[in-house]
Amino acid sequence: MSIQKSQIEAALGTVMEPDLGRDLMTLGMIENIAVDEAGNVSFTLVLTTPACPMKEKIKNSCIEAIKAAVPEVGEIEVNMTSKVTSSCSHHGGHGHHGHQGHHDGNGHQGGHGGHGAPQKIELEKVKNIIAVGSGKGGVGKSTVSLNLAVSLAASGAKVGLIDADLYGPSIPTMVGLQDARPEVQNGKLIPIEKFGVKMMSIGFLVDPETALIWRGPMASSALRQLIVDVDWQELDYLIFDLPPGTGDIQLTLVQNLGITGAVVVTTPQEVALADVAKAVTMFRKVGVPILGLVENMSWYELPDGTRDYIFGRQGGERFAQANAMTFLGSIPISSSVREGGDIGTPAIIARPDAPTSQAASRVAGEIARQVSILNATCKAD
Ligand SMILES: Nc1ncnc2c1ncn2[C@@H]1O[C@H](COP(=O)(O)OP(=O)(O)OP(=O)(O)O)[C@@H](O)[C@H]1O
Ligand SMILES: [Mg+2]
Repeated sequence: MSIQKSQIEAALGTVMEPDLGRDLMTLGMIENIAVDEAGNVSFTLVLTTPACPMKEKIKNSCIEAIKAAVPEVGEIEVNMTSKVTSSCSHHGGHGHHGHQGHHDGNGHQGGHGGHGAPQKIELEKVKNIIAVGSGKGGVGKSTVSLNLAVSLAASGAKVGLIDADLYGPSIPTMVGLQDARPEVQNGKLIPIEKFGVKMMSIGFLVDPETALIWRGPMASSALRQLIVDVDWQELDYLIFDLPPGTGDIQLTLVQNLGITGAVVVTTPQEVALADVAKAVTMFRKVGVPILGLVENMSWYELPDGTRDYIFGRQGGERFAQANAMTFLGSIPISSSVREGGDIGTPAIIARPDAPTSQAASRVAGEIARQVSILNATCKAD
């Protein structure tokens, strides 16, 4: 008796996606099931993000389920691919999920809270916008943003990165492109591409001294240009490295961008945590979901492998818990991170096996996972 495709479908219908709480068949994550004469089975597993930290686990669950339900099965070949899901706050022309974003507190409040009806920014080809913020400066937002972008791109996602810090752009230096100038085609800026990431920064457009004199509307319109006057093409994730603080620029931006979710970065010490609370309040006030908290500079690893918790221990994790946020992970202090930033190669590329790089990749996977979970909530009803 040959194996029927329906037996395989039934078996895979018992495999639950661990985060989304439904089975892979119902979620549409299985495609191209094929069974040959000899009883060999192949199918495609379509993940919600290529950076999915659960992918091996899901794949193994599929194999086990088939073996249990169809013991006579031959070889099982699982082809892994991904289709990144779109943000619930996505109202662009893509039509991924029509108007299902209705319960999103962020999508329809344009023109209410602001002075003079702030203009909504629509990026039709961008599936997800992730803002990286913190209340305090120097905690590692830019480092986390860049490593997140590079890591997601390395996993196969289409990624953009905007350095929204007009007064102190740091991304150009961090990727070794201080002198790069974007081309203009059909009236749009072509983003600068490096390490697989499309980037835009005020640092690519004007001399640092020029931006320093901008205030208020000038600054806002410059920032707007970095977003809307750029030919991003299709992106799975657009990462925003926000300037430090919770001032007008940050508020206008998070209010008008249709952000999928925010990542807040902190260091473990009390002062940083007090400031990150302000960032959390800002995001919540304008209805931007918080994907979670990253604790950077968590410890310093001594040559003998012991950890020195210079800034105290687990402050970030406790804060996340107390504020009902997901803890996205800790990144230790490492000279390779700082050097990477200075020499223009992110640590994740220069030293992929270093503990900090591994930690940064894990954090990136965790962020992608939280985006997928969030995006599933607007499709569920
Ligand atoms: N895990 C780490 N280990 C070692 N150095 C780090 C780490 N994270 C960040 N740094 C260094 O700390 C400095 C500040 O980091 P970064 O520029 O990313 O912070 P920021 O929050 O973006 O700062 P700003 O508020 O000025 O925008 C940089 O020199 C960076 O290389
Ligand atoms: Mg920065």
